[in-house]
Amino acid sequence: MSGNQGFQSKRAVLESRSIAKSSCIYGSSQIGRNSIIDPFVIIGYPIRVKTKNFTEKNMELPLENSYDKISNGSIIGKNNHIRPFTIIYENSQLENDVETGTNVVIRENCQIGLGSIIGSGTILDSGVSIGKRARIQSSNFIPPKIILGDNIFLGPGVRFANDPYPVSKELTTTIVEDNVIIGIGAIILAGITIKERAVIAAGSVVTKDVPSEHVMMGTPARRVMSREEYDTKQKMYESSFSD
Ligand SMILES: CC(C)(COP(=O)(O)OP(=O)(O)OC[C@H]1O[C@@H](n2cnc3c(N)ncnc32)[C@H](O)[C@@H]1OP(=O)(O)O)[C@@H](O)C(=O)NCCC(=O)NCCS
Repeated sequence: MSGNQGFQSKRAVLESRSIAKSSCIYGSSQIGRNSIIDPFVIIGYPIRVKTKNFTEKNMELPLENSYDKISNGSIIGKNNHIRPFTIIYENSQLENDVETGTNVVIRENCQIGLGSIIGSGTILDSGVSIGKRARIQSSNFIPPKIILGDNIFLGPGVRFANDPYPVSKELTTTIVEDNVIIGIGAIILAGITIKERAVIAAGSVVTKDVPSEHVMMGTPARRVMSREEYDTKQKMYESSFSD
């Protein structure tokens, strides 16, 4: 298939029957059983270094054939739901039960763990790693060298820096350990480790490593309570709604 009918590579292994005709699946991509690939999704989009010297003269037209030829594809596990206008570059891997919202960009060499949800409008830059059951809400930008653990929650619009003095030649790694909660609009500066079960309040600017179980708030973020106190507040809040 080609043109506005979408494209399915002959090299792709498609175990799912729910693949929209308008989607483009390039290279030796794999789509596991029961995965839904919605209309206008692209999987296995080739990386920039491969396409930047393309010209009409050296390309095999239609364009989809050229992209297919150079793409290594990406791996989508079972029971995924990839929503419209999601673009997954080549060499990425989504484990089983992953969901994306609409307009999600997942660049090359990303790893997304079992049961994770990536909210609409989120951009995962190249090489981002996300653990299991992560909940990443809408409009997040996660640059290269960010490692997110299991069961993490990112509210909408969290921003991670990876360059302490832009534009430098060296990008730093930021690690968010398991069970961390980061509130809406928080900014995490470069090279930070946020340890297990820490909480970052909405709008905070995190400038230093955060110890486990700490709840941090403000600019610069400072400890305001323990995770235990936070969990107690959360339970009280929830119980105020039950009869
Ligand atoms: C961390 C958090 C839970 C603290 O809540 P809390 O303990 O109930 O805080 P309170 O409302 O009792 O406020 C305590 C004080 O901190 C201030 N405060 C509360 N949240 C703040 C924040 N994010 N940044 C700066 N100050 C904050 C309050 O104004 C208040 O100040 P005051 O004592 O001078 O009046 C809350 O700030 C937060 O970030 N929640 C996450 C919301 C979110 O991101 N949701 C994502 C899905 S939409």
